This record gives sequence, C-alpha cells and structure tokens, in this order.
Amino acid sequence: MTGLSVHKDIETILLTEEQIRKRVMEIGEKVSEHYQGKDLHLVCVLRGAVVFLADLMRHITIPCSCDFIAIASYGADTKSSGVVRILKDLDDSVQGRHILIVEDIVDTGLTLNYILRLIRSRNPASVRVCALLDKPERRVVPVEIDYLGFTIPNRFVVGYGLDFGQRYRNLPFIGVLRPEIYGGA
Ligand code: IMP
Repeated sequence: MTGLSVHKDIETILLTEEQIRKRVMEIGEKVSEHYQGKDLHLVCVLRGAVVFLADLMRHITIPCSCDFIAIASYGADTKSSGVVRILKDLDDSVQGRHILIVEDIVDTGLTLNYILRLIRSRNPASVRVCALLDKPERRVVPVEIDYLGFTIPNRFVVGYGLDFGQRYRNLPFIGVLRPEIYGGA
C-alpha cells in the first residue's frame, strides 16, 4: 500500500493502517508490562493524539484512567521561544500519580517540553512520554521519548488524528500531504 495514493491530497502513504495497528499494540503491551501493579494515568494532548489514545488504551491491560490537555503555541514568531498557552487544562490532579503523556508527534519538542515542565511542577509520582511519531530533524529542545511508534522524515504528515487546518484527522493511515495543499510547493 505504501507509495500508493488513496486520497487526492495525499502524496504518499507513509504508514499503513496495518503498520500502525501492529505498533500501537506493541506499545500497549510494553506499557502494561512496565506499569504492572501501578495505577496509570494517561494524559492525552488534544486534539491530534485522540485517535492514538483511543487505540492505545484498548491495548493496555492494567487499570488506567485518562485526562486531556490542550495547548496552543503563540504563532510562528514566538514559537522558537517555547511560549505556549493552555487552552484546556487537566481536569484531575496529577499529584502522586504515574503519568504517561500521550502525544501524536514530536516536532520541535517545544509543546512537549512545556507540558513536561507543567506536569512535573505539580508533583506526580512519575512522568513518561509516549509519542506515535518523532521528527528528530526538526528538534529545537531535547525531549526524551520513552515509548515511540515511528521515526519519520521531515515531511508534513496527516491522518490518524493529525490534521492540516483541522482536516484529514479521520484518515486511517498516516500520509504525506501534497505540498501544494499547504503552500509548500
Ligand atoms: P512541536 O511543539 O513543534 O513539537 O509540535 C508538536 C505539534 O505540532 C504536534 O502535536 C502537532 O499538532 C503539530 N505538528 C508537527 N508536525 C506535524 C505534522 O507533520 N503534521 C501535523 N501536525 C504536526
């Protein structure tokens, strides 16, 4: 399937439904093993990580709960400064709990770095990071990813929760968006 286009705005399929399904299952098994005997609290970063969270948590076999946080960056100019703001804070306290942050993609690392600092300041028992995708070429701040789905090249991707202008989140695969769609051609 990789290389074929099944949507007019998609240049290539980078990760098929089957590849994603298999990897998410493996991550779920690993997480379940590592947190055995502990209460796991998943923190999903809205909105992109929703699809990943929904699949991942169904492969977690230990007791777990989840909460949601939404962050916005202050736009292109200030993004490099790491200035971000909270659009929606967590509903539950993280104090004394084992937190696993669930993110769709780590690009510059600024969003995750901000969320990590925020959560650590609230005294959890532990914090780890689970990201479906990593684009290491674009990193501005170092971020340690404890559970990673796939490392991808520096291309703009959509699908499986990831969007461009709030579209394409419903695609079941991860594909490279045609540059002419986002003005990158
Ligand atoms: P960071 O703060 O630069 O690491 O940005 C992470 C956020 O940028 C992700 O949660 C996504 O919402 C968005 N993002 C980065 N790269 C892509 C991409 O290729 N496709 C869609 N969204 C992306």
